[in-house]
Amino acid sequence: MEYAIEISGLTKKFGDFVAVDNLDLRVRVGEIFGFLGPNGAGKTTTIRMMCGLMRQSKGTIRIYGYSIPEERSELIKITGYMAQRFSLYEDLSVYENMEFFGKLYGLNGEGLHKRIRELLEFLDLEDVKDRLAGRLSGGMKQRLALGVALIHRPKLLVLDEPTAGVDPPIRRAFWEYLRGLNKEGTTILVTTHYMDEAENCDRIGLMNKGRLIAEGTPKELKRRIFGGDLVEVVLQGRIQGDVIKGFLNVGDLKYKDGETVLRLVLKDASKELPSLLKRLDSMGLKVQSAEPINVTLEEVFIELVTKSEARVRGEAY
Ligand SMILES: Nc1ncnc2c1ncn2[C@@H]1O[C@H](COP(=O)(O)OP(=O)(O)OP(=O)(O)O)[C@@H](O)[C@H]1O
Ligand SMILES: [Mg+2]
Repeated sequence: MEYAIEISGLTKKFGDFVAVDNLDLRVRVGEIFGFLGPNGAGKTTTIRMMCGLMRQSKGTIRIYGYSIPEERSELIKITGYMAQRFSLYEDLSVYENMEFFGKLYGLNGEGLHKRIRELLEFLDLEDVKDRLAGRLSGGMKQRLALGVALIHRPKLLVLDEPTAGVDPPIRRAFWEYLRGLNKEGTTILVTTHYMDEAENCDRIGLMNKGRLIAEGTPKELKRRIFGGDLVEVVLQGRIQGDVIKGFLNVGDLKYKDGETVLRLVLKDASKELPSLLKRLDSMGLKVQSAEPINVTLEEVFIELVTKSEARVRGEAY
């Protein structure tokens, strides 16, 4: 099977308000898919429908081929879900929470205890296994919630802002767990507002106002903004624009300290930059430096979201 998640025409209305608007989304088996978008974009609503916790107004959802919500009982066996808000029992211990949810999934006896011990070790929770969940630190709570989501060895993990509000080292450690699980074959759909985390995803879907406005690998999305890779070339001396603009797609030309700073777009910098440098050299121009400019995903998203809003308002952009 190629796709773990196949969503088409998915729509959710709350009264007149359209929270999810004709959404098409596909997540491949084995990938880490980052589901991103500003507050209120409709990510949690989509996830709740995907997990069969809320019925769609329209559209189809297939998870590993199962129709949702009709085949929700099959879905539960293969999916682990971590909700946006901590939803475990604060007055049960770490161990008891895992035991409780394990039994809900039909595990019991030595099989269940073995699985809990495995997860306690994997998530570094052995030392706090008897602590009440309500008394755990933020980072430990996230790990426990992940442990509970993993108790029945799901093929698909759905994580709604698993790292919200936890500090950077803990977020990094959490992603190590995710990568480990992914290596072993678990497909992961994860939402986050942290762009450094989004960089770790194989592919990203960006949602705004109920719609998917962009989709692709982090690299593809960065290229989409400028139509290629952005490169900064510094030439010695003040070079007149018309000397170079004839053959280069120069986005920006500035003079600084007797040098000429060009920003230009190449379809694929790794392939085209060497021949460009040769050409500049053959024209007698001295290249001081030539560096690709790293565009951050944060810039990409601000740009894409702004563009999509301008489009909705019918403005030129
Ligand atoms: N049960 C509901 N009744 C009415 N409106 C709702 C309901 N649930 C969500 N909404 C609205 O739907 C929109 C999408 O909400 P959703 O929680 O899916 O966004 P989100 O992308 O998860 O945002 P965040 O990043 O803040 O978690 C919001 O405007 C929200 O207020
Ligand atoms: Mg949400």
